[in-house]
Amino acid sequence: MAEKRKIRVGLIFGGRSGEHEVSLASSQAVMANLDAEKYEIVPLAITKEGSWLLGMEPQQLIAAEREIAGLTALETTTAVTLTGDPSVRRLIPIQEGAALGSQGALDVIFPVMHGTYGEDGSLQGLLDMANIPYVGCGVLGAALGMDKEKMKMIFRSVGLPIVDYVAFRRSEWERSPATIIHALEQSLTYPIFVKPVNLGSSVGITKAHDRHELEHAINLAAEYDRKILAEQGINCREFECAVLGNDEPLASVVGEIVSSNEFYDYRAKYIDGKSQAIIPADLPQEIAEEIRRQSIQAFVALDLSGLARVDFFLEKETGKVYINEVNTMPGFTEISMYPKLWEASGLPYAQLLDRLIELAIERHEDRQRNRTSM
Ligand SMILES: Nc1ncnc2c1ncn2[C@@H]1O[C@H](COP(=O)(O)OP(=O)(O)O)[C@@H](O)[C@H]1O
Ligand SMILES: [Mg+2]
Repeated sequence: MAEKRKIRVGLIFGGRSGEHEVSLASSQAVMANLDAEKYEIVPLAITKEGSWLLGMEPQQLIAAEREIAGLTALETTTAVTLTGDPSVRRLIPIQEGAALGSQGALDVIFPVMHGTYGEDGSLQGLLDMANIPYVGCGVLGAALGMDKEKMKMIFRSVGLPIVDYVAFRRSEWERSPATIIHALEQSLTYPIFVKPVNLGSSVGITKAHDRHELEHAINLAAEYDRKILAEQGINCREFECAVLGNDEPLASVVGEIVSSNEFYDYRAKYIDGKSQAIIPADLPQEIAEEIRRQSIQAFVALDLSGLARVDFFLEKETGKVYINEVNTMPGFTEISMYPKLWEASGLPYAQLLDRLIELAIERHEDRQRNRTSM
């Protein structure tokens, strides 16, 4: 019997994003855990400048960026692009005369990308145009998952509990800072969290304890985004739940994050290595159930597919649960919360990857049923 051809998985990582390095860490783990019996992995690095390099593995990109292997690593790869024309449906080389062979034709893409141009819908739009199946959600879900304000609007509209917030434009702040400060102090009390609307990994986020800090916090957030969010700071524990599926999503056990800092900032997340994940979380069963229920409700409300990690606050004084945000391509290292939560729910890392690829193909097939003409 002829051997079944392996599924060719294009693993996209890196990208033009502040979370470039996080993506490199995640993609190394995904690459190491994809079953070599089933998949042929085609690594596809996107540099910080946005160039696509075929055949460069995450390790090599890291080395090239640190200029360890610099040019040699870059020279062995081929610059490629993806056209939006579905009749091509393959990567094509940019250099004249270069050939890719079978490597250019991908069965499915796993965009292990965090943040801008990877997790925000732009890459998803390109992959849709090219008609290639991919892991994770589509354009709308990805865009909503990146916009903390629109996400809250949807949460509110389906009755999910959110903390009080005020959103405003950078231009409004620059025009009349006093009016903005007044408005924020009218509706919120210190501490106030200030965030750029479209970012992740706690970049540009400040916990402001007074008016002076608030002004600084807004100026900082304004460096990152034209939309700014001010949120009621609460004294809370933080929980996360992993969702997996398409139209019938499942929720994992709940985990707790115990931050090493005053809040779960970039340092606590990636640098000092002291933050802890407690899986499963020590919580009354009914609260854990409530978090799982809300996770699925949020997943459906935002039109997500494939995977998402949904994050919650539990206010210490009141015991009230608030939904904070979703991440449509959560961190994916072996010690990241998303795969850990599934492992604790009975789905080991490698099988989780199998399931995500199945879901990607299933979603793509389902979309092929849609009529595109009258
Ligand atoms: N309203 C809030 N009250 C208390 N802590 C908050 C609040 N908003 C954010 N935080 C803290 O800041 C961290 C990062 O905020 P988050 O909105 O999750 O941004 P990111 O998308 O960068 O992860 C949270 O994990 C939490 O520790
Ligand atoms: Mg967060």
